[in-house]
Amino acid sequence: MQHDKVLILDFGSQYTQLIARRVRELNIYSEIHPFNKIPTNLSEYKAVILSGSPNSVRGDKALHPELSELRTKKPMLAVCYGAQYLAHFSGGEVAPSNTREYGRANLSYIKNDDEFFIGINEGSQVWMSHSDTIKKLPTNGVLLASTSDVENAAYKIEGETTYAIQFHPEVYHSTDGKQLLENFLVKIAGLNQDWTPQSFVEETVEAIQEKVGNDKVVLGLSGGVDSTIAAVLLNKAIGDNLYCIFVNNGLLRKNEFESVLKQYEGMGLNVKGVDASERFLTALKGIEDPEKKRKAIGNAFIEVFDDEAHQITDVKWLAQGTIYPDVIESVSATGGPSATIKSHHNVGGLPDFMKLKIVEPLRAIFKDEVRRVGASLGVSPELLGRHPFPGPGLGIRILGDITAEKVRMLQEVDAIFIEGLKAWGLYDKVWQAGAMLLPVNSVGVMGDERTYEKCVALRAVESTDGMTADWVNLPYEFLQKTSNEIINKVKGVNRVVYDISSKPPATIEWE
Ligand code: XMP
Repeated sequence: MQHDKVLILDFGSQYTQLIARRVRELNIYSEIHPFNKIPTNLSEYKAVILSGSPNSVRGDKALHPELSELRTKKPMLAVCYGAQYLAHFSGGEVAPSNTREYGRANLSYIKNDDEFFIGINEGSQVWMSHSDTIKKLPTNGVLLASTSDVENAAYKIEGETTYAIQFHPEVYHSTDGKQLLENFLVKIAGLNQDWTPQSFVEETVEAIQEKVGNDKVVLGLSGGVDSTIAAVLLNKAIGDNLYCIFVNNGLLRKNEFESVLKQYEGMGLNVKGVDASERFLTALKGIEDPEKKRKAIGNAFIEVFDDEAHQITDVKWLAQGTIYPDVIESVSATGGPSATIKSHHNVGGLPDFMKLKIVEPLRAIFKDEVRRVGASLGVSPELLGRHPFPGPGLGIRILGDITAEKVRMLQEVDAIFIEGLKAWGLYDKVWQAGAMLLPVNSVGVMGDERTYEKCVALRAVESTDGMTADWVNLPYEFLQKTSNEIINKVKGVNRVVYDISSKPPATIEWE
């Protein structure tokens, strides 16, 4: 790949991935690396960005990168922690701030004769999130902008192409943030803006052809965006040597198996649909514990997939829809490993015993880029706009043990909810939606009869990546109509509730 690249050194900020995405929205390729693992092939990078961090430069645990190979040798933009780091260790001074410095602020005294601030006007809104402040600029520091609370909001180092900003240009609330990144990367560092979905497709297809040659490749389709786009790219590269397997685990949405299979065939993919519903239901019989269910579903999937893959003679490669956030090595602010909240299925891939080599065409790109690549490949907006759906499917939305009857019930409820969202024009405003079948019976009355039936919870959330989420304020009229329809049409359900919990502290799925 012959694109100009930006190296983003991560100090553990929650916004680091956003920096990479904003840079890529400028059609410039960027990569994230931990601050303490600077890549050795530095000649490949034309500019460096230092991220923010939850740490303080003043503490004993201050993250201390070795920047001698970068500083003054490449154009450098230091953001938040990065800006404080440059000040603290190069003759300036950083101290705790007296005033709250979180949220919106406006730039003043902008030196817009400097290329960095071209096109950015006095009063431009920026987003602050820090508790230390730069009291004194580093040696040769030149002040470029302030805010009412932060005098040294932006500076550069005289005689270097080193710039530093206390605010976060990557968040949407910094209204000119993208312009600022473009000024730095294009005007100052001279990078080309040639990283586009089209160039990605061309290069990826070539790279796959080179890597895989005439070998056969097997890929597990899930119906989701990532595995589908991975399949379309591979199909473009190697045609019928790609063998796709789409497993019905019996826990998909209503009619999903048939309709998605049809869609895949319409796209010219070489797909085998395998209905293994019975096998999964048998494996799940009597299991109530969420983690045990996840394991049972994961294991059954591996068995089914392995059986099918062995029927393809001489297959050498396994393709996966892994995307960039799964690959980025994270910097832990605490130093320790993070707790496992849920064991995600289809993240770690298939076990070694398959002895297949791995090809991952989406490894370098983010979810929003996967969608843009999909659009440039002509994949339908309907498919690209599908809500995420977990690998274990309805299995983690039926609390307690799973039976065929409960699956049927939940499929009906889910279909009414999702179709309703589409009919009311709400589907695309929601990041993910679904229904949970609760292990709760409650008393109701239908006609003159007493009922003692199941309760379902509806959940609709807004999010950008599923890491944090908030419940969606759906119109009361919609909830009222949907609840009526569910109770009237789905036998066995007499009560509907709406989940109004955010993540954290709740999670999106109930199990
Ligand atoms: P939670 O429930 O952890 O979910 O807030 C966050 C996002 O991840 C999805 N999810 C999964 N996706 N395999 C998947 O492919 C899984 O095992 C799995 N578990 C949760 C969930 O639907 C939400 O989008």
